Amino acid sequence: MAQELGIGLISVGWMGRLHSRAYRALPDHFPELDVSPRFVVAADPVPQAAAEAVSRLGYERSVSDYREVLADPAVDVVSICSPNFLHREMAVAAAAAGKPFWIEKPMGRYASDSRQIADAVASAGVITCVGFNYRHAPAIERMKKLVSDGRLGRITNVRGTLLADYSSNPLAPLTWRFERERAGSGVLGDLLSHGLDLAQYVVGRIASVSAMAETFITERPVPAAGVVDRSAAGSGELKRVENDDYAALLMRFENGAVGTMDSSRIMRGPRAEYALEVYGTLGSVRWDFQRLNELEVCLPDDSEAGEYGYSTVYMSPGHGEFGRFQPGGGTGMGFDDLKTIEAAQFVASVLSGTQIAPSVADGLAAAAIVEAAEKSLVDGAWHDVPPVDGPLTYAAPTPAL
Ligand SMILES: NC(=O)c1ccc[n+]([C@@H]2O[C@H](COP(=O)([O-])OP(=O)(O)OC[C@H]3O[C@@H](n4cnc5c(N)ncnc54)[C@H](O)[C@@H]3O)[C@@H](O)[C@H]2O)c1
Repeated sequence: MAQELGIGLISVGWMGRLHSRAYRALPDHFPELDVSPRFVVAADPVPQAAAEAVSRLGYERSVSDYREVLADPAVDVVSICSPNFLHREMAVAAAAAGKPFWIEKPMGRYASDSRQIADAVASAGVITCVGFNYRHAPAIERMKKLVSDGRLGRITNVRGTLLADYSSNPLAPLTWRFERERAGSGVLGDLLSHGLDLAQYVVGRIASVSAMAETFITERPVPAAGVVDRSAAGSGELKRVENDDYAALLMRFENGAVGTMDSSRIMRGPRAEYALEVYGTLGSVRWDFQRLNELEVCLPDDSEAGEYGYSTVYMSPGHGEFGRFQPGGGTGMGFDDLKTIEAAQFVASVLSGTQIAPSVADGLAAAAIVEAAEKSLVDGAWHDVPPVDGPLTYAAPTPAL
């Protein structure tokens, strides 16, 4: 009989609901893990969210205080899906309670939050997972393999773009995402942390950066009472936006490659254009999350004379974990599936006692780059990114599940 896995959820927002769906999908897509998720308890101070955890997501009970989740002996693993300013306190408490946890990115508001989380995890010795879900796209796994097999030759440069429209409406309310005290940086932490992790996952450690950033929508309406939805209308009162709408980085990788990466949350046009392009002396590969199941590949050695250029490769069984979701190429995977793979890596890590999933050390590695970029915003100079200790997984070969 499958082993019961007690799930405790902290925060029942977008990510809390998605983590829950991901655990639920495990027996179907990763049957060899042989786990049966039991939805024990969810915590959220908003009564409607707490009630939905029971009525829609199937948790046995809900509470308003997250500490009750950590204290429940039936909880084997915890998902921390709260706003950034609560990550440090909750993650440190989860580690102290000896609970393995899966935390959303960016891991805390600043690198100082991330360091405290990583230290607490190192002391407690618990398994962790950080929500760097784009790593799990089959196209990214394919990209990583082409790079590590040397098919692109020596990697010369990387281009990353993370262009979103989620804050493009200037009348959308000023939620926690726009406040320094509760979010930390703007797109630097929110979106570039994803892109920086992807670049390190595919190409290797980023050693130094220089950055610029700008805030274009400088004031936003204060949310009407009780509003947490970023698309809802705000009240009439305006408040200052305290973090970046746009940020751009120049990057030097430890292996000699160079790169650029920029990000915006106020684009009109791109919806969620999260793209990574890797160029080498023999070929190149390009991927965009908006076309999740496609990889553009140029490998001139493989092409016939006169057909030099990009081919579109549709993800198929054999590319990453694609075959667990669809039997044939051209039938697409979706965003939720990336989270299911992440849940599987987390649970496989917990069951084996080996850190396979993106770890809090990886979370700190991304935060350390953001910290170096923020120093560059102050003095305009290049800043080195200090190496991170701990179980980094970005440089490891793709784990076999
Ligand atoms: N991996 C990804 O691609 C991705 C995508 C979106 C968000 N995120 C991250 O996930 C986290 C949450 O974002 P979201 O979009 O789900 O936010 P959200 O606003 O949809 O949900 C946040 C929830 O936290 C709850 N909350 C507030 N205070 C709390 C407390 N004291 N205890 C417990 N719960 C509390 C709120 O009531 C709300 O239900 C953020 O760190 C964000 O950066 C990651």
